[in-house]
Amino acid sequence: MATRPRALSGIQPTAGSFHLGNYLGAIRQYVALQETHDAFYMVVDLHAITIPQEPADLRANTRLAAAQLLAAGLDPQRCTLFIQSHVPEHAQLGWVMNCLTGFGEASRMTQFKDKSAKQGADRATVGLFTYPILQVADILLYQADSVPVGEDQRQHVELTRDLAERFNTRFGSTFTIPKPHIVKEVAKIYDLQDPSIKMSKSASTPKGLVNLLDDPKVTAKKIKSAVTDTGTEIRFDAQGKPGISNLLTIYSTLTGADIADLEQRYEGKGYGALKVDLADAMVDFVTPFRSRTQEYLDDPETLDSILAEGAEKARAVAAETLAQAYDRIGFLPAKH
Ligand code: TRP
Repeated sequence: MATRPRALSGIQPTAGSFHLGNYLGAIRQYVALQETHDAFYMVVDLHAITIPQEPADLRANTRLAAAQLLAAGLDPQRCTLFIQSHVPEHAQLGWVMNCLTGFGEASRMTQFKDKSAKQGADRATVGLFTYPILQVADILLYQADSVPVGEDQRQHVELTRDLAERFNTRFGSTFTIPKPHIVKEVAKIYDLQDPSIKMSKSASTPKGLVNLLDDPKVTAKKIKSAVTDTGTEIRFDAQGKPGISNLLTIYSTLTGADIADLEQRYEGKGYGALKVDLADAMVDFVTPFRSRTQEYLDDPETLDSILAEGAEKARAVAAETLAQAYDRIGFLPAKH
């Protein structure tokens, strides 16, 4: 294990059900990296409260996110899965990183600009402003080599690299400089009703979004009523045929079939045939996913003990890194 490169990523517990875009874009990647990396994955509840959360919802969504990650194939024997707030070192190193970040530097984070514009200037919190700096601490605490994220997180990983280098230059080599692990071929999944926008929980209409925990019948129906393009030919052409291309991407990523093979298989068959088969493939995928998630939710003791073990493993690593950083900074050690 020790010789494997380390990977770390986080996912927010704000959405309730994961959607198909989360799964095909990110979570499948997490599952794959367990085989090649010493992987740490966390549910980032500290990040979640940068936007107001109902306490009961936050608690339920945190368990739900962990249950879905396990249902998707994260294996606590092969990776470390934990809840961010269970490891207090995140907030502690976050403070240190706040004190190394320029105000102007933080102001250039584009995700903050987008999110604060949505919140309104008066309602956006300082926590939202420093969100990327907490993310820096998340990554550096584990000496991660590789950070599997989507393209939208590239700037935050760049900030992580800058702050790690800054700390190392000023205080001596302490942190590993991480690299973003952004897989170009990773499927970009689009809204089923508006294939010009990414699938997301703020979808065009509920029919555009496939939630993995929806009733499989609802999911099948959404696939069958996805917008398609004029014409009848099943051909991948992201510009000319965005609707059909999106369905081909989903089908191919879900089943492992090549897009070229799918084009051949459906030659002369029309959109309906593709939709029926894709709807079946989706039902075959979401049905066991839902029941595995439900099993974890029905047994919160098991789930919580998996998370307790994960937090313990995570904390051993995080505490060592924090102690080193505190020492280099010149904090007086507490006498035991
Ligand atoms: N900001 C990330 C997102 O919204 C979530 C996140 C928090 C994260 N901490 C992280 C991702 C550390 C990678 C590494 O997707």
